[in-house]
Amino acid sequence: KSFLYKLWKGDVSSKMLNPRLQKAMKDYLSTNKHGVRFKGKRNSKLTGDQLFCELKERVNVKTIDGKEAPFSTLGWEKHVPQIPLGKLYTHGFGSCAVVMSAGAILNSSLGDEIDAHDAVLRFNSAPTRGYEKDVGNKTTMRIINSQILTNPNHHFVDSSLYKDVILVAWDPAPYSANLNVWYKKPDYNLFTPYVQHRRKNPTQPFYILHPKFIWQLWDIIQENTKEKIQPNPPSSGFIGILIMMSMCNEVHVYEYIPSVRQTDLCHYHELYYDAACTLGAYHPLLYEKLLVQRMNKGLQDDLYRKGKVILPGFKAVKC
Ligand code: C5P
Repeated sequence: KSFLYKLWKGDVSSKMLNPRLQKAMKDYLSTNKHGVRFKGKRNSKLTGDQLFCELKERVNVKTIDGKEAPFSTLGWEKHVPQIPLGKLYTHGFGSCAVVMSAGAILNSSLGDEIDAHDAVLRFNSAPTRGYEKDVGNKTTMRIINSQILTNPNHHFVDSSLYKDVILVAWDPAPYSANLNVWYKKPDYNLFTPYVQHRRKNPTQPFYILHPKFIWQLWDIIQENTKEKIQPNPPSSGFIGILIMMSMCNEVHVYEYIPSVRQTDLCHYHELYYDAACTLGAYHPLLYEKLLVQRMNKGLQDDLYRKGKVILPGFKAVKC
C-alpha cells in the first residue's frame, strides 16, 4: 500500500520517509537547538476522542500579555492589545476553515467551500489573489512566524496580506520558556517590528504567542507518539488548528493531511519542490498530522478528495 494510503489510515512511521528526511530528523534530534528536556512518557495510546479531551483540558492559548518580565519592565502592557485573543469574539465562531499552504490545494476548486466558513485562518505569506478558485479570498486571521516580520522580502510593513486581519506571530523560544533568555536571543527578532507595528496600527488585533503554549503542544505530540519526535516547535499549521479549536464550534482543515493531489510542491504560490514541507524535517510535522488524523470526524472520502479533516471545537464537546 502507498505511503499516502497509510497516512490516511494513520499507519505510518518516520522509517517510511525518504533517507534524506530521516537523516534531517536525526540531525535535529542530536542538535536539540532549543534545549528540549522532555520529562513525560511517550506513546500513550489514546483514542481520537480521548486525545481530543486531553487537548481540550490542557491546551491554553496564551499570548504575551506584558505582565511578565522582561516585558513588564519594558512597558509591554501598553503595547499589546487591550482585548485578549480569546475574548475578541465573545461567542467564538461557528464554522472555521484552516487553509494550509500546501501545493496540493492547487486545482482543488475548494475556494467557495472555504469562503462559506465564518472565519478563515491562513499562514505566513500565503496569498489569495490569483488563487481564489482553489483557496478562496476570505481571511480572518493570519499566523505568521518571526521571519515574516524580520525578512524585508516579505514587506510586512506595506503588504496588504497583513492588513485587516487578526495577526498572531510566534518565534521558537527555548523549551524552558524563559522569557528573559528568549527576549535577548529570539530566533528572529520579532519584538522590535511588533512594537513598531502596534504603534502604527493600534486598532489591529496583533498578538505574540507565549512560548509556554507552543511547547505545551509539543509535549502533547511527544506524549502521544511512540518515536522520538524532532525537538523543535510544532508547525504553524498545527498551532493554528489548536487556536481555531479553541475559538470555533467546528474546524475544517484543508490540505494538512494531503489529498490525492499530494505533491512535493511546497506551497501553492511558489515554484519550489521539497517533500519536507509536507512531511516535516525541522517541525515534527508527520507526527502532528498523525494526531490530527486520529481525531478526524469528517468523511474518509473528503479526506481523499479534498484533503479535508473535520475537528470539533473545544466548546462543542463535553469531556
Ligand atoms: O510553510 P508554512 O509554514 O508557511 O505553511 C503553513 C502550514 O501549512 C505549515 O506550518 C504546515 O503545517 C502546513 N503545510 C503542509 N504541507 C505543505 C506546506 C505547508 O502541511 N506542503
